[in-house]
Parts: sequence; structure tokens; C-alpha cells
Amino acid sequence: MIKKIISMQVLLLFLVLSSASYGQTDRLNIIYTGSLQGQLEPCGCSPKSDFGGMARIEGYISAHEEDLSPYLLIDAGNFSGKNTPQGKLKTTAIIDLISSMKYTAVGYSENEKTQEKDFFASLLNSHTIPFVSAMPGHSKSASYSQNSFDINLSSVPEDIKPEKLNILITGISWADAKDLNGWDIIITSSGEELEGPVMTENSTVIVSGYPKGNKIGILTLNKGSDGNIRYSHRWQPTGKDIKETESTQAILDTYNSKVSDLMKETDKPPTGTTYTGVTECTLCHQPFIDSWEKTRHAHAFASLEEVGKTSDPECVVCHVVGFRETGGFFNIESTPQFANVQCEVCHGIGRAHVEDYLKTTEPVTEKTCLKCHTEENSPEFDYPVYLEKIKH
Ligand code: HEC
Ligand code: HEC
Ligand code: HEC
Ligand code: HEC
Repeated sequence: MIKKIISMQVLLLFLVLSSASYGQTDRLNIIYTGSLQGQLEPCGCSPKSDFGGMARIEGYISAHEEDLSPYLLIDAGNFSGKNTPQGKLKTTAIIDLISSMKYTAVGYSENEKTQEKDFFASLLNSHTIPFVSAMPGHSKSASYSQNSFDINLSSVPEDIKPEKLNILITGISWADAKDLNGWDIIITSSGEELEGPVMTENSTVIVSGYPKGNKIGILTLNKGSDGNIRYSHRWQPTGKDIKETESTQAILDTYNSKVSDLMKETDKPPTGTTYTGVTECTLCHQPFIDSWEKTRHAHAFASLEEVGKTSDPECVVCHVVGFRETGGFFNIESTPQFANVQCEVCHGIGRAHVEDYLKTTEPVTEKTCLKCHTEENSPEFDYPVYLEKIKH
């Protein structure tokens, strides 16, 4: 998925198409998402990246239903997760949410096309999703009337209805979208981070769903008595303050319990004599153990316990030693000795060194940290600063 921050100050829009007086106005919000990529909720690893996910989108919209009405709720596609067992569980939960949130229209983009056929077909059969898509078996377009707005919502770039307000739902990039003529609004799920709407030379307003639902796009249309439409736009961040509703919590609970089943079903990797665990190091390095105990690394598994995510492979991997590697962490019942970010995560498998301390451990470099301190999970990571905090 392309990730590009596009800042187009010149094209940024807060434009007034007409300066006529707006005594009588009709208002319509177009609430849009796109490129959710299976994101249900953020990991919460850092306050700075604690945004996003369909659960919070639902929480925000249901809490502000009245203020936002009347609105069209549109997802431009690429909402599905990866084609993996856990990815499928995410896709299922997202479809459950799309269905319960009563989306007006949903796009069908690359992520949807790459889903396993039988899985996706049976998922769609058990829900009624208003897909607007050029795919066979879906409606290519749909019409909506809301106050004085007469809208044509379509997935086909040629399908313009001149007398209507034309909205295209697509997965193409904004660069390609800006070459399309005749559309009033284009909503893409290309995964590009637009700073705001882009107004093209042909007066098309292009918006792009914020990747992973970190923000909800709200494009407001105000129609004056002269018939002209004035647009305004805002991004609603989906931070920690947003509480999902009980029904969404139930969908998340089902997801979490199925993920946990998935972890139980996974074959146990061969137990071998690889990692030793921290107790083997205590014999000779007690002062290092004492100072490590004071770092957050020593309590990384407790953080997962607090949020009920100890059985989610996508979380466990960075909060333990050697997840799913031979002789590493498997689950907390069978391998409790490898919970938390221990010595061997940085110094390498210590077996040989424990047996003969003249055999040296692996050197620790910035690269060692970056396995876990990624942009998404640790946006404030700065090697010298972080190194200072874990010195022992
Ligand atoms: C196996 C994954 C992993 C590796 C490798 C790793 N860390 Fe961490 N680190 C974590 C996790 C997980 C946490 C959060 C623990 C918690 O609070 O639950 C963390 C937290 C930290 C913190 C605490 C941040 C704070 O603001 O208090 C520092 C500092 C840190 N790591 C530094 C490092 C450095 C430096 C390296 C490399 C030499 C490194 N880490 C390697 C997983 C890792
Ligand atoms: C790629 C590695 C990685 C993955 C995957 C990961 N974490 Fe983390 N986690 C970290 C690191 C690194 C930190 C410390 C970040 C920092 O302070 O810079 C952290 C910190 C945390 C914290 C402590 C936050 C705090 O401020 O006390 C929690 C809670 C947490 N992670 C939960 C999760 C959950 C839940 C998941 C799965 C959805 C997850 N993590 C997946 C690396 C990871
Ligand atoms: C987050 C990564 C990380 C973890 C976890 C970690 N260390 Fe270290 N350790 C380092 C770094 C970085 C240094 C200093 C740089 C170096 O010499 O490699 C270091 C230095 C050391 C040294 C001294 C090296 C010397 O040359 O004097 C010892 C001994 C040591 N660690 C043992 C341990 C033990 C025992 C544990 C577990 C209780 C542990 N470390 C956990 C990263 C880590
Ligand atoms: C039997 C005692 C003993 C045990 C057990 C032991 N070490 Fe050491 N370790 C030493 C000694 C002694 C040195 C210093 C070696 C030297 O100066 O050449 C050392 C050095 C180190 C160093 C410095 C760099 C290097 O490789 O020389 C690190 C890091 C380290 N140990 C980590 C660990 C870790 C991690 C464990 C547990 C997996 C561990 N040690 C277990 C005795 C031990």
C-alpha cells in the first residue's frame, strides 16, 4: 500500500463557489472511510500512535449521530485484512461492523479482490453489504435523495449522470483521479494520506480515506438558496477518548476469542535448547538483572495482560523472547519463562555463552531495537535517548 503524505496547499480547499448569502441552506455530511486494511483497533503501544480502527469509527459516529445527520456513510474500499487466518478474522469483524453501522455504500477494491473466494462469498452471503462496485454481482451505482441533494454514487468512471451530484467511489490514486472529468466528488481508498480535500482544475473534490481509520473524513456540503454548493471538510481523529458501543465491544470480544483459539491451534514449534531465559544469566550478572528489572522491558507482558491481549500473536511477538522460534515463547501456560523482553532479545541466544562464558554474545546495535521499535509501535524512538533509558 502506498504511503505518501501529500500536502497541496495550493489545491487545499475551503472554497466558496459563490459568495451569495446562505440564508436557506441544505446541509449534507459525507462521512467517508477507506483503506482500513483490516484495522479494528490500534495496539496502544504509544500515545502518539494510539489512533484508528473501525471500532472507534463506530464509537464516534454512534455518539454523534444527531449532530452528523443527515449524512451518507461511505467506505471507498480496501477495508479487508490480509489473506491469513488472523486477517480473515479481522475482515469478518469489519464486515460485521460495516453491516451494523448501516453504511450507505461500500467500495470493493484490491484488498477485497484478493480475498479467498469461498471465504469472502460466504461472508457476504451472511450479511447485506451495499457494495457499489464494478465487480459482477454488485450494483455499479446507486441513487440517493436527501433534502434537495440528488446523488449518483458510482464505481464506474464513465457513469456520470449530468443532472445529479456525482460521487465516484474508487481505489485509484488521487493523481489518476484528478484526470477524470465530470465528477463532483471522488472518494478513493488508495491509502494516500491527503492533508485535506484536493480541488482539481475541473472542480472535482478528491478525498482519500485516511489509512487504517486514524481519522474519519467529514465532507460537508452546504447548498445555498442559489443552488450552489459550498464545501467544508474536517478530519475527526479516532483517539483513545472515543468509546465503542457495547455491540461493537461484543464483536471485538468475539474476534479476540477466535484469535486466541487460533493461537491454541497453532502447532507448537520444536522445543530445542536454544534460548535460556533470564534465570540462567542471574548466576553471573545479578547487577545487570537488577537494573533490567527496572526497565519497562521486564514488564512488557504485563502490559498485554492489562489490555487482554496475551493471546494475540500480533501483539505477543514484540513483548516476549523468541516468539514461535525453536525453544522460544509459545504461550504463557507452556513457556512462562520466556515472557517479557529479556536479555536474549538484545544479546542473542545465550546458550553457548552460558555453557562457556568465553564465547561472546552478539553485539547490540540500533538494528536490534528496530525489530520492535517500529515507526508505528514506537513513533518516538530515538536510539541514543532510548539507549540511555535501558543502560545497565
Ligand atoms: C523484542 C522486542 C524489543 C526489542 C528488540 C527492543 N525493545 Fe524496547 N520495548 C519493547 C516493548 C514491548 C516495550 C514496552 C514495554 C511495556 O511497557 O510494555 C519497550 C520499551 C522500551 C523502552 C521504554 C520506553 C519509555 O518511554 O519508557 C525503552 C527506553 C526501550 N524499549 C529501548 C530499547 C532499546 C534501546 C532497544 C535496543 C537496544 C530495545 N528497546 C529493543 C520491545 C523491544
Ligand atoms: C513491532 C513490535 C510490537 C508489536 C507488534 C506490538 N507492540 Fe506493543 N509495544 C512495542 C514497543 C516498542 C512499545 C514501547 C513503545 C515506546 O514507548 O516507544 C510497546 C508498548 C506497548 C504498551 C505499553 C503502552 C504504555 O504506554 O504503557 C502496550 C499496552 C502495548 N504495547 C500493547 C500492544 C498490543 C495490544 C499489541 C497488539 C495489538 C502490541 N502491543 C503489539 C512493540 C510492539
Ligand atoms: C533492550 C536491549 C537489552 C536488553 C533487554 C538487555 N541488554 Fe544487556 N546490554 C544492552 C546494551 C545496548 C548494552 C551496552 C552495549 C554493549 O556493550 O553491547 C548492554 C550491556 C550488557 C552487559 C555488559 C557488556 C560489557 O561489555 O560490559 C552485560 C553483561 C549485559 N548487558 C547483560 C544483560 C543481561 C544479563 C540482561 C538481562 C537481564 C540484559 N543485558 C538485557 C542491551 C540490552
Ligand atoms: C557462568 C557465568 C555466566 C553466565 C551464566 C552468563 N554470563 Fe555473560 N559473561 C560472563 C563473564 C565472566 C563475562 C565477561 C567475559 C569477558 O570479559 O570476556 C560475560 C560477558 C557478558 C556480556 C558482555 C559481552 C560478551 O559477550 O562478552 C554479555 C552481554 C553477557 N555476558 C550476557 C549474558 C547473558 C544474556 C546471559 C544469560 C543468557 C549470560 N551472560 C550468562 C559470565 C556469565
